[in-house]
Amino acid sequence: MSDRITQLRTDFERELSAATAEADATALRDRWVGRKGGLLTAEMKTLGKLSPEERKTTGAELNELKNYVESAIETLLGEFAAKREAEQLAKERIDVTLPGRRVQAGHLHPITLLRQKIEDIFVSMGYEIEDGPEIETHFYNFEALNIPENHPARSPQDTFYLAGERTTELALRSQTSTMQIHAMQKRTPPLRVAAPGRVFRRDTPDATHNPMFYQVEGLLIDRGITLGDLKGTVEEFVRRLFGPDTKTRFRPSYFPFVEPGAEIDYTCFKCGGSGCRVCKGSGWIEMGGSGMVHPNVLRVVGIDPEEFTGFAFGLGLDRLCALMYGLDDIRLLYENDVRFLEQFR
Ligand code: DAH
Repeated sequence: MSDRITQLRTDFERELSAATAEADATALRDRWVGRKGGLLTAEMKTLGKLSPEERKTTGAELNELKNYVESAIETLLGEFAAKREAEQLAKERIDVTLPGRRVQAGHLHPITLLRQKIEDIFVSMGYEIEDGPEIETHFYNFEALNIPENHPARSPQDTFYLAGERTTELALRSQTSTMQIHAMQKRTPPLRVAAPGRVFRRDTPDATHNPMFYQVEGLLIDRGITLGDLKGTVEEFVRRLFGPDTKTRFRPSYFPFVEPGAEIDYTCFKCGGSGCRVCKGSGWIEMGGSGMVHPNVLRVVGIDPEEFTGFAFGLGLDRLCALMYGLDDIRLLYENDVRFLEQFR
């Protein structure tokens, strides 16, 4: 072997053992066997100047050296790649014994929970649950409900008219009693319907008022229905909602769409009637309005008041919900503050 080639081999081996990083190995490859400017590549090109005899032996030796260099560098690069991969795997390792992250599941809003409870009670008493429009015409909001022309509920100070004008026909319903009309138009008596939903009033928001709130309306029409049926039904409803010892009382009141009309109170679910903070010491809590469906209302939907009678009652959900959960402000229900809502899991 020529001294020159022996020298090249020694040089290469020294450099090879000095290569400690992947970048050293690629630099080594460029320097020795790179297509442009590689030491051995250049050396090959000088073969042409040799005699045929010398070219044959030197060429073979050079070739052998080149193969050796290439495979040595290849091996080295392979080692670096394997090392890199092992490091990456170590980084990606998962400790399956670590505690998992808890999934934050959603849950129902307190008003929804109360609404569902009330719906269940109505269903258990044979009522159908019905949903209806929040935007209503004058007919459903007032006329069909026997609400007189000059009644304050018709005024734009109380009702949200859609264009903000009294001249407009459409307004947001201010009570779910509008559903009495829809329910009777859709069916022929006997019928039992309960309609929960949103209602809207031009009230200034405070601890007990919100311009949007929830009511549930109950309606029953059949032959021979009397005030006694209304009282019995409401008493049973209240017992199922607040417990078997709850009592009710009826105070005469006026609502245009019923005659006679009454407001319903029930004994406080907290103190049972002896008086406490929840019922403000009176022992009673106001539930809502009720009465015997007015003959004018029956006539509007084509039901003969001589043949059929019925009762209706309505209650608000928001103040009830606030009382049940001890909230001092119903607006909390609509702020959507997660810290508040989370407490109703
Ligand atoms: N809709 C009435 C209100 O919002 C409550 C009411 C009174 C409902 C009498 C009725 C009823 O069904 O018969 O104040």
